[in-house]
Amino acid sequence: MSYTDKMLRDGALNDKVIVVTGGGSGLGKAMTKYFMELGAKVAITSRDLEKLQNTAKELEEQTGGKCLAVQCDVRHYEEVENMLKVVLEAFGKVDVLLNNAAGNFISPTERLSANAFDTVIDIVLKGSKNCTLAFGKHWIDIKQPSSVILNIVTTYAWTGSAYVVPSATAKAGVLAMTRSLAVEWAKYGIRSNAIAPGPFPTKGAWDRLLPGDLQEKFDLAQKVPLKRVGDHQELANIAAYLVSDFSAYVNGEVITIDGGEWLKGAGQFNLLEAIPEETWDMLEAMIKAKRNKE
Ligand code: HXC
Ligand code: NAP
Repeated sequence: MSYTDKMLRDGALNDKVIVVTGGGSGLGKAMTKYFMELGAKVAITSRDLEKLQNTAKELEEQTGGKCLAVQCDVRHYEEVENMLKVVLEAFGKVDVLLNNAAGNFISPTERLSANAFDTVIDIVLKGSKNCTLAFGKHWIDIKQPSSVILNIVTTYAWTGSAYVVPSATAKAGVLAMTRSLAVEWAKYGIRSNAIAPGPFPTKGAWDRLLPGDLQEKFDLAQKVPLKRVGDHQELANIAAYLVSDFSAYVNGEVITIDGGEWLKGAGQFNLLEAIPEETWDMLEAMIKAKRNKE
């Protein structure tokens, strides 16, 4: 067994209908593929219909499952309501909302225009809010017994991060929404959870977060105690678990999958990792000698 293996049993998501925002590329696409392999019907949504249709076709061919491409800019509530309607018409119901769509780029904050800041907040926070509100109202209206919201955040939702301030601000809001609704909407059978991934290479993220020669200059794997980046399947494994009935008692949780990255930055003495064995030997000898004298 390896972390790149598929974790859940065959048919674990049979009969589930899942909406993945931003499902045409990157991590959304990887999660969609695994959901389909486990028997779910998946609707993928984003702004670029052609990209979505190509992805849907590719994944249907690879998995033999059903994937519906629906154009929807999550920034606009009426588009989200229409997307929900289209999914219900096609599949008859929806069980899971996966808020995965995001926008991000690096910049010193003082260089951002007001519109640049808004653009990221609108996709990440307002977009997740729009989908959550539309789906939640629907589930509550029809008294659906069990439904799931899964939000993709990041570890800087709670640490904050310089140079991606709009994204950090928005993801913090999404995490607060996750935890708040886990309590408020549990009475309607709606579970809310989140995943906080560390670095998982995707074109969308790497082009925007490590543009130019930054990819050569900053090897993100070196920031991770396990000294590697994430594999898409290991993220898809956690997502599949969280949207499945196996996680029926998990509610209001954020699962971090980052190889220990954020904690490495947090622990006050973690920088002592740079000290070589010989120096530790020398320090130990020095301390022992001092103790013997006392
Ligand atoms: C400064 C920028 C900018 C940049 C755009 N803007 N890119 N400002 N630096 N790199 C400004 C523009 O000048 C404009 O402001 C405003 O932002 C809107 O730009 P548009 O290009 O018109 O926006 P739009 O077409 O809506 O595109 C949204 C986008 C784009 C966010 C800018 O990058 C996008 O489509 N992203 C989607 C996918 C994505 O970002 N994936 C990465 C997720 S990674 P003005 O004032 O000029 O009008 C992620 C990882 C987290 O979240 C953790 C990693 C470890
Ligand atoms: P990605 O491929 O760029 O995915 C982002 C998706 O969001 C795209 O498919 C994009 O599709 C969609 N999107 C953007 N704006 C939208 C809008 N207004 N309406 C609807 N859809 C929109 O990047 P990714 O790396 O897979 O990111 C996926 C998720 O993981 C994001 O939430 C990101 O914050 C999170 N994450 C990623 C990493 C990482 O290392 N990759 C780490 C932590 C968290 P269109 O352009 O077609 O609209």
